[in-house]
Amino acid sequence: MDAAILDVSVATPKYYVKHEELAKARGIDPDKYRYGLGCWEMAVCSPGEDAVTLAAQAAFDLLQRHPNVADQIGLCVVGTESGVDQAKPIAIYLHQLLNLPKSCRAFEVKHACYGGTAGLQMARAWTQQHPKRYALVITTDIARYERYSPGESTQGAGAVAMLIGSAAAEQTLLTLSKESGVHANEVYDFWRPTYQSTAQVKGKFSISCYLDGLVEAFEDYKARENDHTEPDYFLFHVPFPRMARKAFRRLSDHKGLNYSDEMIENVFENKVEPGLWINRRIGNIYTGSLYLMLAGLCEREGEKLRDKRIALFSYGSGSCSEYFTGTFGHNLPKPHLHNILNWRKEVDVATYEQLHDEALAMERNQSLRIELEDLQHPFTFLGIRDHERIYKRNDLAIQSTSAKDNDSISPTIRAC
Ligand code: COA
Repeated sequence: MDAAILDVSVATPKYYVKHEELAKARGIDPDKYRYGLGCWEMAVCSPGEDAVTLAAQAAFDLLQRHPNVADQIGLCVVGTESGVDQAKPIAIYLHQLLNLPKSCRAFEVKHACYGGTAGLQMARAWTQQHPKRYALVITTDIARYERYSPGESTQGAGAVAMLIGSAAAEQTLLTLSKESGVHANEVYDFWRPTYQSTAQVKGKFSISCYLDGLVEAFEDYKARENDHTEPDYFLFHVPFPRMARKAFRRLSDHKGLNYSDEMIENVFENKVEPGLWINRRIGNIYTGSLYLMLAGLCEREGEKLRDKRIALFSYGSGSCSEYFTGTFGHNLPKPHLHNILNWRKEVDVATYEQLHDEALAMERNQSLRIELEDLQHPFTFLGIRDHERIYKRNDLAIQSTSAKDNDSISPTIRAC
């Protein structure tokens, strides 16, 4: 029995804005966003949503589907670069909101967008040592850039929760390769100083750091792992969807595959696009974007994934890169990811701008405008009092979510 990903779920905020509308408002050709960056819709948080509530929603949904394991969770790791406190980790808020067992390690991992992969690898090693217990790995982020900056169109928000445990292939979603290729390299390509609520980024430089990290990590993987067959699918870290296309081209060229432009379009369509469609509709969720793509792939391909092999590439600015592979198991139940998209409401650009500015102001002056509807959600951020963040778990909302069909109401959706 191997330690594996047993299941995955996704949560995204209740609002989104269309890139077409954002382009019009910024006087930019919509084709630049749609084709140049590959972005279609961008998730936007309401005032009562933050990295904690998104994480709680994703993990809650996951645990609801696995009630038998809830009291055997011994590790709760959160990968994020949207930490809400310099010392107190998001994991401990989750521990309380989700009623996790007292005998449970709860902590946060940070390395830009790489934090989720660091948490996942740690959780695998831990469950290998504790085969009767389970780990929760949650990635949660709100990608926020300054309005009108080049990064603005690559924002997004969401959380992905993964259940890790030791199981036979019939019960697993994805078993990961024993070896990974890793590459660490100190650079200033993307960062967020402790005194800022939005990120600093050298956009073009970050793209070249990502691509260099991919090649180096792949070389390291090749030297460690004996399996050199071409994977059936590829999942990449997705700061914006066109980045996956750049990464696939670079990797294919590096391997000497000599794809013509036409050939690469076909291979990309079959091996990368099946997961990427969901990133186009949610935007960048930093630590979770690679795993969001995994959820997207499960949704699109379903049972076709049985025993198929995938390659995964994780990149965190700053920087740390990891290339690894995985084999799908047989636990590939009917996906419902589309519901998460149907649950959302579209907002216009003026509303997005107001929500964006309010969120930044809240970090400074700690005053929050709560939308009444937010109080009906399972988890709500109520604001800050005496420097303490206050969260509400709405058991009535939880009961009604549990009682009804997941397909029709829940903001968190079973992805696979
Ligand atoms: N129609 C179609 N495509 C168009 C277009 C149009 N009208 N106008 C521009 N494009 C294309 C460009 O050719 C370019 O494609 P290419 O990268 O294949 O050459 C792409 O759209 C982006 O245009 P560019 O001028 O480079 O955009 P930008 O200056 O706004 O910056 C980023 C783009 C990604 C650098 C910027 O959004 C950013 O800083 N993002 C955050 C950082 C990030 O995500 N880093 C990734 C690594 S972690």
